[in-house]
Amino acid sequence: MKKLASTLIAASVAATSMMASAAVTAVKVEADLSHASYSSSVWDSAKFSDVVLYPQTTIKLNDKNANAANAANKGKKAQIAAVYNGKSIAFMLKWADSTMNIQTGYKTDVYADGFAVQFTQSKDADTLPYIGMGSVGRPVIIHLQKAVKKYYEPNGNGNVEYQVNRNQTDLFDEELKRFDKKVAGIGSNDYERTFVSEGFRSMTEIKDSSNSSYARLGYKEGGWMGTVSRSLSDANLQLTDGAIPVAFAVWDGEKLGRDGLKNLSQWVSVKLEGKSGGDELVAALGEQTKGDVAKGKEAVATNGCVGCHQVEATDPANLMAPGLSNIGGYSTAAYLRESLVKPSAVVVPGYNRNAHSNYMWYTEDNGKRVSTMTDYSWLDADSMDNIVAYLRSLKAEVE
Ligand code: HEC
Repeated sequence: MKKLASTLIAASVAATSMMASAAVTAVKVEADLSHASYSSSVWDSAKFSDVVLYPQTTIKLNDKNANAANAANKGKKAQIAAVYNGKSIAFMLKWADSTMNIQTGYKTDVYADGFAVQFTQSKDADTLPYIGMGSVGRPVIIHLQKAVKKYYEPNGNGNVEYQVNRNQTDLFDEELKRFDKKVAGIGSNDYERTFVSEGFRSMTEIKDSSNSSYARLGYKEGGWMGTVSRSLSDANLQLTDGAIPVAFAVWDGEKLGRDGLKNLSQWVSVKLEGKSGGDELVAALGEQTKGDVAKGKEAVATNGCVGCHQVEATDPANLMAPGLSNIGGYSTAAYLRESLVKPSAVVVPGYNRNAHSNYMWYTEDNGKRVSTMTDYSWLDADSMDNIVAYLRSLKAEVE
């Protein structure tokens, strides 16, 4: 008994000394953050960290042009900072984008640049929601901001679909000038949405007062600056721990990006400076896999994975199961392990039968989705580590 206790202490000391550092540190500030935007002086005291956002190549859109435009996408480096006070937490995301793409209407083929910040209620690093937009039973809260033109909203509800474009008015001459003036005065270019989501196609916008957030987007010197500020605690989310998992996404309208066609980070740990707790989460999200990449590649070839997945290739024509070419860029080691051991724990949402016509991703059993992927829980521990290490290595070069 005595021996066991000392072994445990030794192990915990070793774990502490090897502790990974959080990907982003939220600096504690006194300032009011309820309307923090990219021009707020509060960012002067923030610490910016590089976080790479990888092209999400899991799911193809049924759009040839968009798929072609995005076939050779690279990882995008974003500079991310966070600040918090007793009530709120705010994030700033800066990323390079040489073209400014602004949505000028509703449901056109013009797509906007934009970004999202994703949170989860879950604290267990081993069962975090699916990284894209949550998954069944594992919801996420998503704050989405897209670049839209200044519009006059007659109903004041901020519904883009009811906004009035100047070209669609029957106004002319001085009347049109008066209209433009009115738009400048009361129009809004704020497209801010917050969703609860259990997977793409199951997103529910939070429209009631349970959400109090503030997002802004500005363009300067070849890049965007986006900010989101939200309460640490409300009916949808309680961010009470010393470290929280957060994920970031950006869309490029120039490349017809929308929906799943985006660049996405993995769940990254954000440490709230001066607050205790959350060390396990930081360690788990920063986990270095111990497997052998070359052996993992071999194991993937011999265990039939390539019969269903495109692993390194990204040929949209014969895409069946999710593409794995960037899986290491946006997945944690724990998620990959779970994918192999319990394929149905997370069934990748957003399956598009037209784009992935060669293979059914799931069947239904009593209203529950059951993955059609082979269960690999029988793999020995070494093979599992090797495969996970190999999958973690699968990601595009960084721009
Ligand atoms: C019989 C076909 C089939 C085989 C064989 C197969 N998979 Fe899958 N895999 C799927 C399907 C379908 C999905 C999507 C449904 C789901 O989430 O389970 C999937 C999902 C995944 C995911 C999650 C992808 C994401 O984007 O989140 C990973 C990782 C994965 N598979 C890895 C592997 C590896 C590694 C192997 C081999 C050891 C393998 N698969 C073998 C069909 C297969």
